[in-house]
Amino acid sequence: MTRSDEIISVRNVYKVFGSDSDVAMKMVQEGASKAEVFEKTGQVIGVFNANFCVQRGEIFVIMGLSGSGKSTMVRLFNRLIEPTAGSIFLNGKEITGLGDKDLLQVRRKDMSMVFQSFALMPHMNVLDNVAFGLAIGGVTLDERNGRAIDALRQVGLGGQEYCFPHQLSGGMQQRVGLARALANDPAILLMDEAFSALDPMIRSEMQGELIKLQAEQNRTIIFISHDIDEAVRIGHRIAIMEGGRVVQIGTPRELLCNPINEYVRAFFNGFDTSRILKAGDIAQLDKSIMYEPGRQTPLKADAPLKEIFQIVACASAPVPVVDAVGTYKGSISQGHLLSCLGRG
Ligand SMILES: Nc1ncnc2c1ncn2[C@@H]1O[C@H](COP(=O)(O)OP(=O)(O)OP(=O)(O)O)[C@@H](O)[C@H]1O
Ligand SMILES: [Mg+2]
Repeated sequence: MTRSDEIISVRNVYKVFGSDSDVAMKMVQEGASKAEVFEKTGQVIGVFNANFCVQRGEIFVIMGLSGSGKSTMVRLFNRLIEPTAGSIFLNGKEITGLGDKDLLQVRRKDMSMVFQSFALMPHMNVLDNVAFGLAIGGVTLDERNGRAIDALRQVGLGGQEYCFPHQLSGGMQQRVGLARALANDPAILLMDEAFSALDPMIRSEMQGELIKLQAEQNRTIIFISHDIDEAVRIGHRIAIMEGGRVVQIGTPRELLCNPINEYVRAFFNGFDTSRILKAGDIAQLDKSIMYEPGRQTPLKADAPLKEIFQIVACASAPVPVVDAVGTYKGSISQGHLLSCLGRG
């Protein structure tokens, strides 16, 4: 991808909570951990030296344990939190230097946030809740109602405009929260654990809805989650945060196959690896196995593990795997396949 595909670019960004950030930053630069800095100085490292880009149109998931800095990172994007150091660019323009008026414009036009606690106004009906932000932005009544109705339709709540929040289920309330963000027609949706409060069925439904919306509208979505199943399902790429640092960014498959450390690997404990691994990912090159084209039907390297299970299970010998141009990549034995599936 070219640089012009970058919608957000984060350069050397730090956030230290506390009044003496210089001391804290110096300590971390000298190798101190977040815990050590806190113990010695009382300063909290929120984000430490973040450097990455979010591509236009992707669903970028941020994962990490509680306190690792996910919410801080996302709030730096729309400057609900000011960075201690570093720069953040939106479409190549530095937002860390914007004045109040331009910043307001960014929050109105470029980024909308969806919260975990739906944050609806209890005394306002659904329509007014969705149109509320637009009203503040000075949009006329007719236009804001039109946009709110359209946003409600997008999230499957057409016809519910005059209900009040207390009449809706949690899932429906979160749809209203999503509609409120969509009514702004923002280029970027920031979603901080937006689905965490929903029960599993509704949550899964909302994930599907989000994937559909993203595919239709090609919005950029930055989605915080602490659930690897959710992250893998919706994320094109996942950034893993640990103690304020972004320790690894990659596709679900890249993280699963090449975790940079034990912390990243641990997120995949108990995960059904067959959801993302392909035959080529687990093929083993064994010099004692001779691959003779024509004698055995090979598997395609890009075949999902789920699809090859039956074939490998019924084969009397390890099954060869070839890439798109027919080059032998290795073989998969029954035992090896089982151990790869079991690793999850
Ligand atoms: N306003 C604040 N003042 C002081 N410390 C803060 C503030 N906001 C966040 N922190 C600290 O910064 C660190 C990162 O917090 P953050 O809320 O970004 O974590 P998180 O990854 O979103 O966690 P969670 O999964 O629990 O939501 C934590 O140690 C937190 O205590
Ligand atoms: Mg958080």
